Amino acid sequence: MFKFDNTSRRSNLKSGIGLRDPHLEQIIEEKPNIGWFEIITDNLINADEKTLQMLEKIRSDYPFSLHSVGTSIGSVDDLNFDYLKELRKLSERLEPFSVSEHLCWSGAHGVHLHDLFPLPMTEETVLHVAERVEQIQEFFGHEILIENVSAYTDFVESEMSEPEFITQIARKSGSGILLDINNIFINSKNLGLDAKKYVSEVPKNLIGEMHLAGGEQREGYILDSHNCRVWDEVWDLYEYALGSYGQIPTLIEWDNDIPELSVLIDEAANANRRIDSICVI
Ligand SMILES: [Fe+2]
Repeated sequence: MFKFDNTSRRSNLKSGIGLRDPHLEQIIEEKPNIGWFEIITDNLINADEKTLQMLEKIRSDYPFSLHSVGTSIGSVDDLNFDYLKELRKLSERLEPFSVSEHLCWSGAHGVHLHDLFPLPMTEETVLHVAERVEQIQEFFGHEILIENVSAYTDFVESEMSEPEFITQIARKSGSGILLDINNIFINSKNLGLDAKKYVSEVPKNLIGEMHLAGGEQREGYILDSHNCRVWDEVWDLYEYALGSYGQIPTLIEWDNDIPELSVLIDEAANANRRIDSICVI
């Protein structure tokens, strides 16, 4: 049984950025001043040896986190151990400081929909998901982080709040939490949650990483688009989270319309400035 608790081994990492194909060569050549990189494991499952060697080269200079989108933790289908085997292989090769997946489902009855759907927040779901997280952790041999997702609808069946839901699953399974601050902000606007209350209800010893990203205003809702700079309101909520939790490794997520590396470095510096001014540690 695993038990994530960051009180005795708090990471001293500050901000990081996603490692993306268009920037690989520039990073190897210039070795920019970045704290760490996040790797999307799903992009690497069929990667050629040359790409993996480039990653290993970068890994020799920077810490990595591994982040996945395809485990479908909340599904009623059996876990896909062929997929998990590939993730474990990558993890053994790249030795990340954290491995994370989303608290969602992505398909059922053998159909994978490549999306991150929210779950009904019930006692039954807590037990179901916690058991699956435990199985994954047993298979990997270490704890993982589970991430709160953005949503555009909720369930009348839900019996508890979102922070209670993710906290219960983390406690039952022994996992940590990857708290996506932008997703909390989006859900506060789309679903009417109280964003600061959410942050104050997640225990700080369970948080292993935070995410920041930019969204897009659509008619009547905000889309979690990851294609622009972090919004001012999300920075405000991030500052509140830093005040509540202290320093936590924080990723700038940017997955669409990927900009010049310098823009990502600038956003990471914006996060570091806030960490330095708010956190003692
Ligand atoms: Fe995220």
